Amino acid sequence: TNKIYILGIESSCDDTSASVICDGAILSNVIANQEVHAQYGGVVPELASRAHQQNIVPVVQQALEQAGIDTSQLNAIAFTKGPGLMGSLLVGTSFAKSLAMGLQIPLIDVNHMQAHILAHFIKDESAKIPPFPFVCLTISGGHTQIVRVNDHFKMEVLGETIDDAVGEAFDKSAKLLGLPYPGGPLIDKYAKLGNPKAYAFTKPKVGKLEFSFSGLKTAILYFLQKQLKENPDFIKENLHDICASIQYTIVEILLDKLKNVVKETGIKHIAIAGGVSANSEIRARLEHAEKYFNWTTYIPKFEYTTDNAAMIAITGYLKYLKNEYADENVTATARLKV
Ligand code: KG4
Ligand code: ZN
Repeated sequence: TNKIYILGIESSCDDTSASVICDGAILSNVIANQEVHAQYGGVVPELASRAHQQNIVPVVQQALEQAGIDTSQLNAIAFTKGPGLMGSLLVGTSFAKSLAMGLQIPLIDVNHMQAHILAHFIKDESAKIPPFPFVCLTISGGHTQIVRVNDHFKMEVLGETIDDAVGEAFDKSAKLLGLPYPGGPLIDKYAKLGNPKAYAFTKPKVGKLEFSFSGLKTAILYFLQKQLKENPDFIKENLHDICASIQYTIVEILLDKLKNVVKETGIKHIAIAGGVSANSEIRARLEHAEKYFNWTTYIPKFEYTTDNAAMIAITGYLKYLKNEYADENVTATARLKV
């Protein structure tokens, strides 16, 4: 039988990425990060779309080269339709449409949030593939959702955040500590050296499957202001303990919600996905949950946690198998539901 090659393209936020997948296994996954945003403390949309336009051709070329194929071997092109920043999405969408038209092969539109979850279906020697139904906690810079996954494309959001996303909670806390964007990975790094019980922050009072992180940010702000008044070097002297305490609070909130969803649905197959699932504390606590709560947990490979095109390519492959193609007049959509 012939092999199926799919090119995936991701450009929803500030990473330009291209990946080639063959029959569900990744041959390449090239990611160009945009350094330009760090100095502004967040992603600047105008700069992001310009950087995508600069990066898209070299990134795609590199992905094809690393996969050892040329465009004539591609069976379809998958791209991120949304959700994300409009100007960023338009670059990947227009590029994918033109290339598919030039090569006269099918075009496949992909929902970025579904793709984070479907990264669990990438074929890999070490892959542990979740059975249906499973529950996925999708945690990224823009979203925080508990999703019941009944089938590859039958997903149901059981609960989500009523304000900030978890990634934002990490990044905004990091900003208060004077750390550059994105601060999530830095909090993770410093937390390893600190005491998670050094400072206590209260958890929000919201519905069983709902999240809220804006109160935590305010609590951290007031806490720091009070401490800095007494000791201007408070952050510098206690950075590790502060990071560990913030991370501990956030991870406790996430685990509470997972316990609630297991209680409510009876489903014990628990996956995590999205940029924040790179967090070492979340990964470690979920591994423990296998023993303590008798759950089966699915933790994505590190490179498939933050934004990447491999997850777009695998989603494209799964849609290709069902002949689900996009119309030629398909457009990018900034807001798109799972
Ligand atoms: O999925 P993603 O790459 O982009 C979105 O779709 O939003 O997620 C990015 C988010 C950022 O907020 C970043 O700080 C966070 O994931 N993140 C982390 C870690 N690595 C990335 N947060 C905590 N710990 C980490 N190790
Ligand atoms: Zn993402």
